[in-house]
Amino acid sequence: MAMNDEETFALVAGGHTFGKAHGNGPASAVGAEPEGAPIEAQGFGWESSHGTGKGVDTITSGIEGPWTANPTKWDMGYLELLYNYEWELTKSPAGAHIWHPVDLAEEHMAPEVDGSGKVTPMMTTADMALKMDPAYRAIGDKFVNDPEAFGEAFAKAWFKLLHRDMGPKTNYAAGDYPEADYIWQDPIPAGKALSDSQASAIKSAIKDSGLSLQEMVETAWASASSFRGSDKRGGANGARIRLAPMNGWAVNKPDQLSKVLGIYDAIASSHNASVADVIVLGGAAGIEMASGQTVAVSTGRGDATQEHTDVESFAHLEARADGFRNYSETVFAVSPEEMMLDKAQLLQLTPAEMTVLVGGMRAMGISATGAGIWSDGTKLDNSWFKTLLDMSVSWTATGANSYEAKDRSTGEVVRNASRIDLVFGSNSELRALAEVYAQDDNGDKFVSDFIAAWNKVMDLDRFDLNS
Ligand code: HEM
Repeated sequence: MAMNDEETFALVAGGHTFGKAHGNGPASAVGAEPEGAPIEAQGFGWESSHGTGKGVDTITSGIEGPWTANPTKWDMGYLELLYNYEWELTKSPAGAHIWHPVDLAEEHMAPEVDGSGKVTPMMTTADMALKMDPAYRAIGDKFVNDPEAFGEAFAKAWFKLLHRDMGPKTNYAAGDYPEADYIWQDPIPAGKALSDSQASAIKSAIKDSGLSLQEMVETAWASASSFRGSDKRGGANGARIRLAPMNGWAVNKPDQLSKVLGIYDAIASSHNASVADVIVLGGAAGIEMASGQTVAVSTGRGDATQEHTDVESFAHLEARADGFRNYSETVFAVSPEEMMLDKAQLLQLTPAEMTVLVGGMRAMGISATGAGIWSDGTKLDNSWFKTLLDMSVSWTATGANSYEAKDRSTGEVVRNASRIDLVFGSNSELRALAEVYAQDDNGDKFVSDFIAAWNKVMDLDRFDLNS
């Protein structure tokens, strides 16, 4: 959730200012969860045979008791109790470890949930960390003496908790939210859409810049493919690939990146465009060179600043593996092809889109290790799929993620590949897609599907266009 210590503290202490934990009976009295319950339970689960199964008899976590004397009110009761009492380890009726205050004053007793009497407040071991851990304690000592600061910290952390996976503020449908920009919202200054003639002039300038088509395509992919559909972070908008930490990620080839960005910076300023748009136009320029087609590009991206980039939380977006670029930092316990699926899922790609992108990238000579490059890399065509399905070779493993193909009649080694490449021949569903793209009469379909999937990736974070 990318919460720092203060936010974590405020959330736990503020959250447990309300409500109670439930464990007033043996865990064995609770039935199976909804999916494990008999079909006739019709969606009900966890049916309890303990007393009424609700109210004072409720069993959920097995921990029992409220945290404060007024569990339906926002007050300072949680921290006051936690810090002013000694606590001793005991057990709930369900047998869970909980902490009770020593010598509790009557006024600090809490109401029973049905109003039938008074109960002792409790703390979980996690709550005790807010007292015993020195770093948390320093935060708590500040809050306990400054209720307003505690309330403010809770409100801000709560807002972050509920909104941090919604992307930019423009995605918030209702108007009732703070005007302030928070760094966790990954703010990006508004951009300005370019005219068609400006966009073509920039593409021409990039084509004439001396960059290779691989440099253009790799840079655009590196910029856009940091997007995660799971929390709508990353993506090409903002051009954060110019900034730390993204500009230092090994997967992005930092030396090449800095050379390309030097050229793009100059083009952006001479054409009055954002670097973010120039990066995407560069990808399109490379694909145009390789395909002979015109690639339409959306523009209007802005350039973020380093000051508005949360380096620590962006570090978690680093691609440790990217099958599309045949990149893997190391040999992981999870197979390269499964890691590619994970990335494809974050990029919200269909199996066909994933397939056409990998085949097209390899056709254009893109592979971090050089594996899976079976052409001179100058042409975006369906040749990669044709070669993949070539039955005149047999493949053998040469390492954890490397394979070589030998000509069946001569025994000569004719090409190499990674697991990412070969999964498109081995997995039945992916092979079916590879066969469609390899067909002689599907060359045009391959190119147009590639360009559509490519543009989808470039625009994943264009919530303004995609809404
Ligand atoms: C270290 C982190 C946390 C731990 C280990 C933890 C643990 C628990 C447990 C075991 C329960 C009892 C559930 C039950 O028996 O019904 C509970 C309840 C509750 N928690 Fe947390 N919690 C944590 C953080 C938070 C946060 C961040 C919030 C909100 C900002 C929160 C709000 C609540 C509330 C309101 C209840 C009471 C629910 C009710 O009355 O039914 N907790 N928590």
